[in-house]
Amino acid sequence: MVCLGNICRSPLAEGILKSKVDSKSVYVDSAGTGGWHVGELPDTRSIEVARLNGLSINDQRCRKFTAQDFEDFDVIYVMDKSNYDDVIALAKTDTDVSKVRMILNEMAADLNEEVPDPYYGSGNGFQHVYDLLDKACEQIAKHLSRE
Ligand code: 4NP
Repeated sequence: MVCLGNICRSPLAEGILKSKVDSKSVYVDSAGTGGWHVGELPDTRSIEVARLNGLSINDQRCRKFTAQDFEDFDVIYVMDKSNYDDVIALAKTDTDVSKVRMILNEMAADLNEEVPDPYYGSGNGFQHVYDLLDKACEQIAKHLSRE
């Protein structure tokens, strides 16, 4: 799960997907394309919205996305088009490129809708992000259970 800062959207995506899959068979992680917050906890507003929805994401620490992630992961979900471009810029092969997906395409294929960045907005933006990611992760978990 990749966003810009790895403190707002992708930590929620990581926590939500982890809550829907078997950790013995699916490894879920998150990262940011920017490195400003490396080593930090998720944003307090993401921690709070996760808590209100029954999830704890306090064990997560921010890290930066690297080209090694193309080796380590089968699928790389990004939140918006700029994340997509930043991740694709690090791809070395067609296989790398094929791993990168806009997460909301899980619900509406090829529409390339974006999970809005809630960082500069109010608290409500975080619940909206949570709801979008919850629906997308439900789809991802459904697909994984069929594989
Ligand atoms: P995120 O939100 O990409 O959802 O984690 C942001 C967090 C921090 C910054 C930008 C976006 N920042 O510029 O520090």
